[in-house]
Amino acid sequence: MTANKEIKTIGVLTSGGDAPGMNAAIRAVVRRGLSRDINMKGIKKGYSGLINEEIIDMTAVNVSDTIQRGGTILQTARCAEMRTPEGQQAAADVCKKHGIDALVVIGGDGSFAGAQKLANLGINTVGVPGTIDLDIACSEYTIGFDTAVNTAMEAIDKVRDTSTSHERVSVIEVMGRNAGYLALWCGIANGAEDILLPEKYDYDEQKIINNIIDNRKKGKKHHIIINAEGIGHSEAMAKRIEAATGIETRATILGHMQRGGTPTCKDRVYASIMGAKAVDVLLEGKTKRVICYRDGEYIDMDINEALAMKKTISEYQFEVSYSLSHNYSKNPK
Ligand code: ADP
Ligand code: F6P
Repeated sequence: MTANKEIKTIGVLTSGGDAPGMNAAIRAVVRRGLSRDINMKGIKKGYSGLINEEIIDMTAVNVSDTIQRGGTILQTARCAEMRTPEGQQAAADVCKKHGIDALVVIGGDGSFAGAQKLANLGINTVGVPGTIDLDIACSEYTIGFDTAVNTAMEAIDKVRDTSTSHERVSVIEVMGRNAGYLALWCGIANGAEDILLPEKYDYDEQKIINNIIDNRKKGKKHHIIINAEGIGHSEAMAKRIEAATGIETRATILGHMQRGGTPTCKDRVYASIMGAKAVDVLLEGKTKRVICYRDGEYIDMDINEALAMKKTISEYQFEVSYSLSHNYSKNPK
């Protein structure tokens, strides 16, 4: 889709769950825009701040000293009103009132759906994938994943130290309501014995219990179960496992600590390039686009197409992880 008019002012907002690297993306959007003599506006608190006109001028200086910070300097929110036609019209009207010709939306699929609706109402929009969940089908990378997965991995290593010392079973819950990428990556990186993913868990707890008993017989001193937030109930699961196996079992819910902290180099670099690219795409006269990383390239694609895509968990990666943590051989010598 081509832009509906010449762009003089671009707004930027962050929406949905925050992700480390969002500040690097905001900085890139603002500085790339300023370098092209565009007026830059920041919208606070996602779509909620847009509807409530929480709009500030962005300068090169007010994004200074932010690239290394976690969270989002513009703050973020989840906004139910934006899901309604009235809310979407109100948001578009605010853009027009403040002379915002185009909007860069940094967030996940939900945030892109909001950008899609605004584009239909005449506001030029581009989405930048920002979520720790890595669950945006059109892009092989989403800003925040690398930092979050490293934070979770380091925390799980620490839990494993104490779990091994006490010969316990540990159920460790990582974020991901609908997506198991954090869980799968931690499962591989931490050498977990079981990985429970919302996309494929069959709720067969007896299988896990049998695994634990089997591994104990083989001399394993720990049993790490990575449980994705989408399955949840880690405390209750730990109690049931302890009752069935007679082995002390503890649950650890890592929670929101996974979303904070200093972004890794990877997150800063991907965010900087994606943010700059979003401005370039708008200035090329395109709208209703999403920036994606695919096959080693940063590209843009249509939001409708991007939102229609589905991301699946790799069966092969899951199987490899399992085979590296279990029996090794069917006929052990
Ligand atoms: P994410 O962007 O990380 O997927 P959410 O799904 O929570 O996070 O979406 C963030 C915000 O985007 C929502 O709070 C809402 O304001 C907006 N949004 C989500 N879905 C839609 C939709 N279908 N139409 C319009 N706006 C939406
Ligand atoms: O989308 C990012 C995410 O952290 C998910 O992994 C998690 O399910 C959700 O947000 C938690 O949201 P909230 O901050 O509302 O608890």
